[in-house]
Amino acid sequence: MSIAKDAKALVQGAAQGLMAKAVALAPDNWVPGGVPDPLIERQHGHVGRAVSRIDGPLKVSGTARFAAEFPMEGMVYAAIVFSTIAKGRIANLDTAEANAAEGVVAVMTHLNAPRLSPPPAFMSNPKAAGGDSLPVMQDETIYWNGQPVAVVLAETQEHANHAASLVEVAYEAEPAVTSFEQARVDARPAVFMGQPLHDEKGKAQAALEGAAVRVGATYRTPRHNHNAIELHAVTVAWQGDVLRVHDASQLVSHTAWSLGQMFGIPEEKVVVTSPYVGGGFGGKCMWQHHVLAAAAAQLCGRPVRLVLSREGVYRLVGGRSLTEQHVSLGADADGKLRALIHRGITAKTPSNVMPEPFILAAKSAYAADTIELDVHAVELDMLANTFMRAPGESVGTFALESAMDELAETLAVDPMELRIRNEPEVDPLSGLSFSSRRIVDAWRAGARAFGWDRRNPKPGSTRDGEWLVGMGCAKGTYPYYRMPGGAARLTLMPDGASVGIAAHEMGMGTATAQVQVTAERLGLPLEAVDFHYGDSTLPGTVLAGGSQQTAAIGAAVIAAHRLLIKQLLEIVGNDSPLAGLKPDDVACRDAGLCKVDEPTRHETYASILARAGRGSVEVIGEGPPPLELMHWSMHSHAAMFCEVRVNAVTGEPRVSRFLGSFDCGRILNPKTAASQFRGGIIMGLGLALMEETQFDERKGRVMNPSLSEYHIPVHMDVPEIDVIWTDIPDPHAPMGARGIGEIGITGTAAAVANAIYNATGKRIRDLPITLDKLL
Ligand code: MOS
Repeated sequence: MSIAKDAKALVQGAAQGLMAKAVALAPDNWVPGGVPDPLIERQHGHVGRAVSRIDGPLKVSGTARFAAEFPMEGMVYAAIVFSTIAKGRIANLDTAEANAAEGVVAVMTHLNAPRLSPPPAFMSNPKAAGGDSLPVMQDETIYWNGQPVAVVLAETQEHANHAASLVEVAYEAEPAVTSFEQARVDARPAVFMGQPLHDEKGKAQAALEGAAVRVGATYRTPRHNHNAIELHAVTVAWQGDVLRVHDASQLVSHTAWSLGQMFGIPEEKVVVTSPYVGGGFGGKCMWQHHVLAAAAAQLCGRPVRLVLSREGVYRLVGGRSLTEQHVSLGADADGKLRALIHRGITAKTPSNVMPEPFILAAKSAYAADTIELDVHAVELDMLANTFMRAPGESVGTFALESAMDELAETLAVDPMELRIRNEPEVDPLSGLSFSSRRIVDAWRAGARAFGWDRRNPKPGSTRDGEWLVGMGCAKGTYPYYRMPGGAARLTLMPDGASVGIAAHEMGMGTATAQVQVTAERLGLPLEAVDFHYGDSTLPGTVLAGGSQQTAAIGAAVIAAHRLLIKQLLEIVGNDSPLAGLKPDDVACRDAGLCKVDEPTRHETYASILARAGRGSVEVIGEGPPPLELMHWSMHSHAAMFCEVRVNAVTGEPRVSRFLGSFDCGRILNPKTAASQFRGGIIMGLGLALMEETQFDERKGRVMNPSLSEYHIPVHMDVPEIDVIWTDIPDPHAPMGARGIGEIGITGTAAAVANAIYNATGKRIRDLPITLDKLL
């Protein structure tokens, strides 16, 4: 089954490949971004200003209502029973005691659940939202250890939780493939988003063998689980023939369509809202809890609230898969790369499409003469793995940037200088021009601010009492993406404007930044702009993922804005100072339109609307297909600098200083951006030093499904983190801005590992770097 799917994906990929070649050769001005967005120039002062979050007061006062907080008349509470075997079937389910327990309304199992189609797995359709394609509670088959086998519905959460503990399940287990070590012989080439995870330029192996200097090593990263502060939750009700879902979501429109497919109803009959999300990171897509809650609400005829327990998130929401990566670098004596080989294995399931794409960073990182990149994947009987902040780059840069440090050490060259020496002129694989690449500026500024010149290059030679002190650096990188499907409704009224788009605010500042962008574009004060989002009935199919939401919204708003200007000029009439002007002749200024080169020819929006006898003008604009991605190589970069202290007695590693210097194009809001950068770096510190899912290779069960046993950085683990940026606009991205949501986690783990090497002389190639590895 998955071979046929891969074949289909490859055919699609080949078609995309042909298209890409044509777009690469097209003139710049045929491509979105070919004519720079006027907002790249500073105009009214909104863009680039450190505006505080408009949702901030609602959150600190507790009035922002999250998915699990919507009250509904007659609501019941759900608790899930999870399977304890990895593969096989349910031989017997005894729900009698649970059914008889106090407060219980119903117990749903595969025997009485509504009949449903399987979930459309992510990327199988532009609107597919499912983490995998497995049927949800439709028969007795068990696919992973932790799969839901029953849902108890009760009058209170406590009643539901207690009754769930009374459900008796007997299994007939079958042999399961749960050991990566055993499955690795069956590793197959991996396909990601329709493209094989394989690239070659020249003969890398031969170039490596002929290189003056060589390094090569294997790096390992473990499984990781999602731990957003807000637990995954839905409150759902069938209201007439409409399925109402209060969700915590990164993709409301995708979820509405996907639930519609499963329940056999049109997507318009599913309304998914998600005004606030307490952290997404790739984990808040559609998982079984959405489906189970909607099915349970149908079964019992009452609204249902389903909040996953923390353990439930580990059982039911996929995380990052493990990787085993091998990096070989061959260079001349002066450090010029002759060969870059990055290959390895990851694990996924037969039912999902997410081989951890750890080679992505290596595709455009360095000007190596020859390059060979490859990901193979094994398939295990486990919970489908999924996207987790910078899938690919976060763990891929750990291997690549550790290897660069090893090469620098071998060559006795400063590790930052080695990277700068290997900066490419054009994309090393595709040959495309970079839209904007100012990583060297970021390196120099970062090194200055961090005091990199104070680094002692001799490992293990700087000591402060019983603490060994070291500094390391690494490059972070994340691509600019813009996915198709962006559309925005723009409504202009006499006293302001509103934008509506089915986008998401997961705490990153989307709503605030978009108010700034729209106010800037229309020449309005911030207070005159409303941003409506988080509702599947709004236009657009927008994913808050891939760090692409700002670009997707931006391109849609540019299109809508253009339509709006056109319509306004059609209604201005002959008495307006704007009479006879064309859209290209006018600019938005001071709550109205004016002639670009004659700003006194100006009329306010209020005046235009009043003369035309209109209360408002409303347009819907659609972002153009994201062809800029095939025309330029578009990437953000970061120069990461870390100082660590490792206790010589206990091995305890502490990060004492960290600085990230970013080149991500124009920064729309320094306050929210700094928070995104810091949040990414903190997650990277967890990746480096703490996070590890303990997966029992015999039983396929996650053994540490709680925040007491799965460690993430807390305040005491995180030093003051400095973040700076170039703020050089990318001329080919909306607003000049590339995405910033994920880059902070990239490069961070390598910077920590490299600093630990500098401190101790110990090269740790297996994450997390815990104290036992340093003793
Ligand atoms: Mo991100 S892992 O694309 O939410």
